[in-house]
Parts: sequence; structure tokens; C-alpha cells
Amino acid sequence: MIRSLLCTSLVVFFANATLPADEVLKQMPAVFERAGSQTKVMLENIKDDPQFPRTLSPDGKVKTVQAEDWTSGFFPGTLWLLHEYDPKGARKERAWDYTRRLEVIRHFKGNHDGGFMLGCSYGNALRLDPSDESRAVLLDAAAALATRYIPKLGMIRSWDHEPYQCPVIIDNMMNLELLSWAAKNGGDAKLREIAVSHSDLTLKNHFRDDGSAYHVLDYDPENNRLRMIDAKQGGDVRTAWARGQGWALYGFTMMHRETGRPDYLACAEKVAAFIMNHPDLPKDGVPMWDFGCKPDSKEPRDASAAAVMASAFLDLSTLVKNGKPYLDMATRQLLTLSSPEFLAQAGTNGGFILTRSTGYLPANIEINVPLNYADYYFLEALLRYRALKEGKTRIALGAAK
Ligand code: GLY
Repeated sequence: MIRSLLCTSLVVFFANATLPADEVLKQMPAVFERAGSQTKVMLENIKDDPQFPRTLSPDGKVKTVQAEDWTSGFFPGTLWLLHEYDPKGARKERAWDYTRRLEVIRHFKGNHDGGFMLGCSYGNALRLDPSDESRAVLLDAAAALATRYIPKLGMIRSWDHEPYQCPVIIDNMMNLELLSWAAKNGGDAKLREIAVSHSDLTLKNHFRDDGSAYHVLDYDPENNRLRMIDAKQGGDVRTAWARGQGWALYGFTMMHRETGRPDYLACAEKVAAFIMNHPDLPKDGVPMWDFGCKPDSKEPRDASAAAVMASAFLDLSTLVKNGKPYLDMATRQLLTLSSPEFLAQAGTNGGFILTRSTGYLPANIEINVPLNYADYYFLEALLRYRALKEGKTRIALGAAK
């Protein structure tokens, strides 16, 4: 009797005990306040420009890009995520305005990036303000992306430029959610088969034994031979480009969510282990631009890689039995990105939200600068975190109707 009373009171005690304050949730209003005020600065900076902000130029001015640039969807997406956090914040009109500027690329076939460009813009529009207009654009975008599929090879060609014949980059995994969504929402059922075939061959060919992914594999589509492995945006074919590991983690986690395939989950967990156990991952969780760099060197970090990873770790944490290590890793990354080390001071950074990303170091392009996709995945990760902590379902594009 005494024992059972003790047990009951212990249960009541733990149920009522104040949980330690959740730092990410505690900081979230201030971080979104900063993200909102920065975006206001951005909108003022680009008010006479019909294009899309991507980064800061060396002269300190916001560099904008045309709709066909692979990053064009991230700023409209950021506006949608700000609207998701605060639907009363009067950003919906702006989000639609920038989203509709991308309607011109609904049939674009020039690269594999339709998921980034139209999934992040119209895909978020569909989640947050459902319409036939968004559905139609996304179905067209998926059909356009599928034209890049090479049946003989079983993969989507990522780029069309020299020196490659049929390059497939790990980033390509990110664009498969658009195909999976379309197959479930009125598009050709083959779109899902394309996404699965591309994933299967990426899984087979694109990974090192340690679980890390190469950036570029170039195939000969006539005989499926591998012509070349290229480090491209990474430091060396023997080391792992940081953002590429983020794309791999996110892409295979998403494809497991979409298909239930255990081998995709195993792949995502192997990439996760590579990142989390890497001796040269800085303690605060934001990687150097390439895992071949030492944290105490002068090499730059890549906040965009951390933002992509944090969002993926949160997704992964919900798909496994024990998601705590992934949740903890994402928490560490989000707290670091929310700190003054990475979060822009109000009114600075051209209006971008995060500082210190690295786009393409080997080509001397976009080093230690803000990047629109760092901002986008940072906000997405925070919103995933909030939903997870509040026990709410935050639908992904794949589940949107
Ligand atoms: N998708 C190109 C990049 O990650 O820089």
C-alpha cells in the first residue's frame, strides 16, 4: 500500500514538476522577431528589383538572381515560413507576390532544381494557403523535372554543362519530394518510380564506406559506366563537403518518410553518424565548409550546412525509435545559429537572417557570407522543432493536398 502510494505520488510529482526551460523555444520569439525585422530590411533593399535575393556581393550590396537560378525559391519560401510562424504578421501578400514571380519557370527544364525553386515557394503556398493555382504549378514543375530522367541510366541528370556527360549530384535528392508529391496528387504514377530509381542508384553509388556522400558522380548514360567522381564544391574527393552531407541526410530521411523504405532510413542514419561522430565537427555543431578542415584552422564555417542538417535531424528524430540523439544534435545547431555568432545583428547583413555560410569555396565564390538557403532551412528547422515539442503535426510538402 505504502509502496503504491509512493509510486503514485512520484508519478504525480514528475507529471507536475516544472521541466527545464526549453532554450530553443524560449529564444524562438526573439529569433523570429529578428528574422522578421531583417526581412523588412531586405524588402526595402530590393524594392525596385524584380529578382530574388541570394547573397551579399563583395561591395556589400544584396545580390539578386533571376527565376532560373537554383536559389530563387528560398526568399519566397522564407516569407511563407515567417507567415507560418505568425499568420497575423501581414506577410502572406508578400509571400504570394514573390511566389508568383516564379510562375514563369513552371515548365523549366534547365536543371534538376525544381524542388528547391518551386517546392520551397509554391509548395509552402500549397501547405499554408491551399489553391488549385499552386497545385497546377507544382504538377507542371514535377513533369518538367521528370523530363531530365534518363531511363537507360535510371537517374535524373542534374546539370547540362561541361566537363560532364551525365552528372548526378547529391543535392538532387532534395528535389525528389516534388516528384513524390505529384505522384500522389494527380501527376503520373511514374514520377514516384523515378524518385525511387534515382534514390536507389544514389544509395548504391554515391556513398563512401564511412557513410559520407560524394558531391558529383558523372555517368556515361550509354553504358552506365562511372566516368568521374568530382569533389566540385567540396575540398577533395577524399573528404566530405559539409552541405553535401546535409543534402544526403535530408534527402534520404525524406525519401524514407515518403516510402517507408528501411534502406533509405539506414542510409540517413549512417550519414547522421558520420556527421555527429566526426572528430572535426566543431563542438557547437556548425561544420566547417568541408569535413576535411580542422576546427581550429582559419577555414570558414558553413551555417547553411548546419541549417539543412538541423532540419533533417529533426525529421529523422521523428522516424526512429530513439530520436533523442538527433533531437539533441539539432538543438545544439539551432542554439548556435540563434546566437550572436551566427544570427545577424538587427539592420545589418543586407537583411539576411544568418551570417557565415560558404557557397562554393574552391571557385572562390560566396565565402563566409549570408545565403538565402541558410535562412530558409534555419526557419524551417525552428518550425519543425516547435511542432515536435508541441506534439503537433507540421505537414511536409509530401503530405500536402
Ligand atoms: N545545390 C548547390 C549547393 O548546395 O550549393
